[in-house]
Amino acid sequence: MTEAYETIRYEHADGVATVTLNRPDVHNAMNETMRRELVRCFEHLITDDTVRVVVVTGAGGRAFSAGADIREFVAPQVPTVFREHRRRIDFRAVMDGCPQPIIAAIGGYAFGGGLELALACDVRIAASDARLGLTEIDLAIIPGGGGTQRLPRIVGRGKALEMILTGARIDAAEALRLGLVERVVPAGEALKAAQELARTLAAKAPVALRYAKEAVVKGLELPLADGLRLENDLATLLRTTEDRVEGAKAFLEKRPPRWAGR
Ligand code: COA
Repeated sequence: MTEAYETIRYEHADGVATVTLNRPDVHNAMNETMRRELVRCFEHLITDDTVRVVVVTGAGGRAFSAGADIREFVAPQVPTVFREHRRRIDFRAVMDGCPQPIIAAIGGYAFGGGLELALACDVRIAASDARLGLTEIDLAIIPGGGGTQRLPRIVGRGKALEMILTGARIDAAEALRLGLVERVVPAGEALKAAQELARTLAAKAPVALRYAKEAVVKGLELPLADGLRLENDLATLLRTTEDRVEGAKAFLEKRPPRWAGR
């Protein structure tokens, strides 16, 4: 299935949806249309149970995304209008509600809002030519798409502050060392690697896959005792599924499982 968008491409095959930021002439910089289309796309994904895993990438081979479209910065903004607008049009907040694992395939530049989009994904795979940074400080602003909150949760307070205060643009090897990306693959191969991982995940029992993500992502926001309670509740629910019985039978009968998704 393919949906019509102006600034992104959406493809869905065999349980894997691929969302491609598609403004290659400007390194996939995000304008207002793209932000709205990403909200619409992820709102759709939240309710589409046929999509098991989502991959996000950039078109053109040179960039994941160079961040917010700086051309839109030239006009001054009325503070309250901007704040209210941001509250409503935050695709990264919509992504937080996605039950499916989301994998970022990062080739080339991922700056500002582009990196913030990658930070809102669950797993990040970078090509060796990737350059990553929260560069907003050089435009006299700060990350406003979750970067100041998500980056320290991933790389720790000191490294996040160093990156945010300097606006440093780091390479893939450094990003891997920091734990900012999970894997580095040769240039040009990030999407292939992300789709391979996505297919592996899409073959898992669907409800278990969603609950595993929920336990980790929601649990991280909770005190340990509450997180353990959440884990216990989700693990208990999974003991009641048909797929649990099927998984055990398939193992004992030495055959691949056929998941029902319930
Ligand atoms: N917003 C709007 N346009 C952008 C853009 C952005 N964030 N990033 C790149 N572009 C445009 C350039 O203006 C240029 O347009 P032009 O051909 O009409 O002049 C085109 O994309 C190609 O970019 P260019 O700078 O010529 O390519 P490059 O390979 O030399 O450098 C970058 C690429 C990404 C390193 C550089 O463009 C850059 O630093 N961009 C800004 C990144 C940033 O700070 N983002 C955070 C915004 S909050």
